[in-house]
Amino acid sequence: MGMESKYIWMNGELVEFEKATIHFLTAGLHYGVGVFEGIRSYATERGPAVFRLREHVERLVNSAKVMGFRDLPYGADELADAIKLTVSANGFDECYIRPLIYLADGGWNLTVDSGKISVGIAVWEWKHFHGAEALEKGIRANVSSFTRHHPNVMMTKAKITGNYANSVLAKTESMRLGFDEAILLDPQGYVAECTGENLFLVRAGKIYTAPTADILEGVTRDALITLARDLGYEVIEQPISRDQLYISDEVFVCGTAAECVPLCEIDFRVIGAGKMGPVTRAVQQAFQAAIRGQHPRSEEWLDYVRAPVSLPVRVAELA
Ligand SMILES: Cc1ncc(COP(=O)(O)O)c(C=O)c1O
Repeated sequence: MGMESKYIWMNGELVEFEKATIHFLTAGLHYGVGVFEGIRSYATERGPAVFRLREHVERLVNSAKVMGFRDLPYGADELADAIKLTVSANGFDECYIRPLIYLADGGWNLTVDSGKISVGIAVWEWKHFHGAEALEKGIRANVSSFTRHHPNVMMTKAKITGNYANSVLAKTESMRLGFDEAILLDPQGYVAECTGENLFLVRAGKIYTAPTADILEGVTRDALITLARDLGYEVIEQPISRDQLYISDEVFVCGTAAECVPLCEIDFRVIGAGKMGPVTRAVQQAFQAAIRGQHPRSEEWLDYVRAPVSLPVRVAELA
């Protein structure tokens, strides 16, 4: 996967890609303490546009709050401007955007109250998380032998770096077993989410998805609920059991990296007709239109990166 870019934004300035390094003795690396976002910028007729930037930045700030970080060096508006600046400085039409908040030093006493809170933003071209064909052909998943976080063990509303060890355990197991993705159950045994996606099922024309108490409040999940309701579908948030997945007409998963992908097989059971169903297709098409500026919802959801940015950023490397 090519993750190269020209610049990575670090603490207020654009740093050349090769120079954007962090010391081995960074506590976040050892203890999994840091908070991040995953965002996408898409090509539109009016140039690159970041999808739901405000909501992602808000979740980043909330993740920091949940983790206990105090006094972030940048506010939400500055972070949003820095993200747009990083996208435009790197010149990608479409890219994935990865902000990370971490302690530059300190943290060795297992608190977030020592050290310096640092912020970085990287962007790279990340076309198809599940491969180019997955959007149409769908993917195969299994229910993981690993359980998703109990919400008082790890904080499920926050994208905390350490939370993702659970995703890595599950995804590694799934892929070694020959599946494409893992479905994780919550500690009560109900369907929670995938390793980096929220999950929906369709039965008798109605769409169901798990309530948010145990899972990440996905920005794509929220967008798909809105788009599905715009299309006239009833969307119901209620606990979902493993066997409800097996007897669904359609199952699809969604996330910033994965976008909207059908699940055609779960635990060796074919789901519905074993290919993308009509409801998934309708929702996926609406989503594809929305992210590229071709949907009535696009106006409220897209932030055009060419818009002027107010953050005073040193860009010595650009000269
Ligand atoms: C565990 C988990 N669930 C769900 C999602 C989907 O969230 P979003 O649509 O905001 O990317 C992600 C990805 O960010 C994730 O990591």
